[in-house]
Amino acid sequence: MKKSKPRKAKATTRRKSPAQNAPSPILAQAIQCHKAGDLQGAEVAYRQVLDTDPMQPDALHMLGVIARQSGRAAEAIELISKALSAQPTLAGGWYNLGNAYLDNDEAKNAVASFEKSVMSMPRHVDSRLNLGNALRQTGQMDAALENYRAALHLDTKCFGALLNMGITLVEIDHPQDALPLLERAASIDIANATVHNTLAIAYRAAGRIDAATDSFRHALSLAPDQTSIWAAFANHLETHSPNAYDDTLARNFEKLLDHPTVTPARLARSVIATLVHHPDVKELIARSAPAQTKADFPGTRAADALAAQPLFLKALKSCPLADSRIEQLLTAARRAMLLSHSEDRAQGQRINFLAALSIQCFINEYAYFETSEETQAIPALANLAARAVSDGMSLPMDSIILLGCYRPLSQYPWAEALAKIDLPAPLSEVAQEQIVNPAAEDALKGAIPVLTAVSDAVSQSVRNQYETNPYPRWMRLGANPDHRNMADILKDAPLNLALGDWAAPDRPEILVAGCGTGQHAIATALRFAEAEVTAIDLSLASLAYAERKTREMGIRNIRYAQADILELSGLDQRFDHIESLGVLHHLEDPLKGWEILTNLLRPGGLMKIALYSEFARQDVVYGRSLIANQGYEATPDGIRHCRRAILDRALSGDALAAGICSYTDYYSLSECRDLLFHVQEHRYSLPQIEKALTTLRLEFLCFELTALPGAPGATDGLEVWHDYERRHPETFKGMYQFWCRKPID
Ligand SMILES: C[S@@+](CC[C@H](N)C(=O)[O-])C[C@H]1O[C@@H](n2cnc3c(N)ncnc32)[C@H](O)[C@@H]1O
Repeated sequence: MKKSKPRKAKATTRRKSPAQNAPSPILAQAIQCHKAGDLQGAEVAYRQVLDTDPMQPDALHMLGVIARQSGRAAEAIELISKALSAQPTLAGGWYNLGNAYLDNDEAKNAVASFEKSVMSMPRHVDSRLNLGNALRQTGQMDAALENYRAALHLDTKCFGALLNMGITLVEIDHPQDALPLLERAASIDIANATVHNTLAIAYRAAGRIDAATDSFRHALSLAPDQTSIWAAFANHLETHSPNAYDDTLARNFEKLLDHPTVTPARLARSVIATLVHHPDVKELIARSAPAQTKADFPGTRAADALAAQPLFLKALKSCPLADSRIEQLLTAARRAMLLSHSEDRAQGQRINFLAALSIQCFINEYAYFETSEETQAIPALANLAARAVSDGMSLPMDSIILLGCYRPLSQYPWAEALAKIDLPAPLSEVAQEQIVNPAAEDALKGAIPVLTAVSDAVSQSVRNQYETNPYPRWMRLGANPDHRNMADILKDAPLNLALGDWAAPDRPEILVAGCGTGQHAIATALRFAEAEVTAIDLSLASLAYAERKTREMGIRNIRYAQADILELSGLDQRFDHIESLGVLHHLEDPLKGWEILTNLLRPGGLMKIALYSEFARQDVVYGRSLIANQGYEATPDGIRHCRRAILDRALSGDALAAGICSYTDYYSLSECRDLLFHVQEHRYSLPQIEKALTTLRLEFLCFELTALPGAPGATDGLEVWHDYERRHPETFKGMYQFWCRKPID
C-alpha cells in the first residue's frame, strides 16, 4: 500500500519564542511575504537577515521551510538543522526537520526529529501523526499505531490519523479493526480517492467482496487517472468476479483490458462473469445451447447485438475467452454467419464483430468445434476471399474476415499480397494478427542462436509438439510498475525469505529454462531490476514468438537461444537464479535435467521450479485415458473432437470432465494439447519432490502461491503441505511452484 504523505509544512503555525517577540524589520517583512505565499520575496529577505547575522535561527529555519516547499529536501535538512543547532527550542523546528527527513526518504532520522517535536509540543496533533507515519515507514507498526491513537486522542477528527491507522491495520492483517477508522475518514473527506481505495482493500481483506468492488469503483470515479487504483482494482477482479452487469462496470473493464499494468488473460474470468449477465448475451447463450444450435440460432441478430458491446469486442481481441457458454455462443454465431454468408453479407457494425471473432479464433488457434457442413463451406468462402484480394479489395472484406474465423489467413497463397494492400479497418487488424505477425516470427527464426543440439529422442518429440503448437499464444502482458531489486523481492511478501548468508546480486544473471513463447521470460525480466536473462527453449517457433513480443514491448535484457536442458552441461556461464516452470516434467528423466540446471547455479543461488501434482491432476489423468481409449489424435481436428466429447460429458454431470473444462488451458488448441495430449508427462507428490531435493542437495525454501485460509504457511515444510494436500487435492492445480537453493559451500 502506498505511504501517505506527511502533512505539509506551514510558515504560519509557528509559536513565537520569547527571543523572537520583536523580529527585525527585514525578518518581519520576510515573514509577511512568506505568509502571503511570495516564496521568492521571502527568500530574498531571509537571506538579507543572514547577511548580517548568519546564524539567525528564524531566518535559517524559514529558509529551510521554503527549500522544502520548493522540493529541495536535502537543503531543507541542512538549513533547519543549522537553525536548531543555534536554538534547539525553536518552535516548530523539529517538526519541520522531521518532515524534511520524510521527504528525503530518511525515515529513521524523521522518527528522532518527530520524537523531539512531540516532547516540545505534546499537544501538537501533526507531530504525533507524522511520528506515526515515520515509525510506520521504519516498520515499527505497534509504535506507529500508538502515535496515531495519541493523535486521535488530541483530535478525534484527525483525517490523517484515521487513514494511516487504517492503512497500518490492513498491513498488519487486522482489516476488521481498520474498517471503522477508514469509514470515518471517508465520511470526513468524501471525495478522497485514496480513502476509498484503502477501504476497498480493507473490505476485500475482511472478506466483504461486494463492498470492496463498490469502493474500488467509487475510488475510480473520484480519480479516474490514478494508476495505482486501477492496478489494485484489477488485482481484486482477478480473483473476485462481479455477478452483475452495468455499463459503468463494462467501461471500467474496457479500460482495464488496455491498462499497461494489466494482463488481460488474468481478468478474463471476471470480464466473462460480467458479460454473461448482459440481457442480450444471456438470451443468446440460452438460444445457442447445444439442443437449439441446429434449429434457428439467430446468427446475424447475435452478431449485431454483440457488435453493439465494445467490451465484448475488446475481450474477444485480448485473450482466449475460457468459458464454455461463450464458446457455445460464438461457435453458433460463427456457424450461422458462414451458412448464411451468400445471402446475408456482413457490413457496418457487424463487420467489427466478425473481425473480433476472427481474432479470437486465431488466438485460441481454432479450438471451436466445426460441423462437416461448415468444413464443406470453407473452400467456397476461400475462393470468394481470393477473388476479393485479386480484385484489389473491390469486393467487400467480409469474406476474408469470415474465413479468418476458420483458418489462419497466413495459410493462403494470397496472404502476402493482401498484407501489402493499404487495408481498411477492421480487416487491417485481422491481417496484422494473422499474416503480418506470423511472417515476422518466420523471419526471426533464422536469427535465434542455437546453443545446443537436440539429440535426445523425447526432447525431439517434445520439440515437434511445440514447433506445431507453441505454448501459449498470448496477446498482452501487464508490466509490473514495481521494478525492484532481487534482495527486496526475496525479503518482501509473498516470498518473505531471510537469506542472511547470501547477498542477492544487484545485477542477477538469470536462466529461464523452457521459456515457451516468452511470457515467462518477460515476466522474470520485468520482475527483477537490472536482471540479465538468458531464456532457452527447444522450440524455434516458440522462441520466435517470444522474440517478437519482447521487441514489441521494448525489453532489452533477455537473450533467447535454442537449447535442450539435457545438453546444457557444457555451458560456461553460471547463474544466480534459475527458473524452470512447467518444463522438467516433460523430460524423460526429469531428475537428470534438474541436476544439470543445479550444476549451472552459483553456490547459494536460487531456483524456482514448477511441477505437476499427481493429486491435482486426476481429471487430466482421466482425460488422457479417454484420449487413449477413443484414439483422438493430437491434430487440430482430433483435439476439437476430444474437446467436444469432454464438454458433452461435463454437461451430463461427469465431474472429472467438468474439472478439465475448468482449466483455462482447455480453451485453446496449443494449451489443450499441452494439457491433455502431451507426448511426455510426469506427475509428482510432495514426498517425491522432497526426495529429489535431497538427492540434488537443494534446500526447499517456500511455495509461491496466494495465501489460502487454513493452509500451512508458504515456508512450512513439505511434509506439512503433503498432509494438507491429501485433504485438499486441488491445492496445486496450478502446479507445485516453489523456491529452493543450492548450499553456499
Ligand atoms: C508448458 S511450456 C512452459 C513454458 C513457460 N515456462 C511458461 O511457463 O509459460 C513447456 C516448454 O518447455 C520446453 N521444453 C520442454 N523440454 C525441454 C528441454 N528438454 N529443454 C528445453 N526446453 C524444453 C518446451 O519446448 C515448452 O516450450
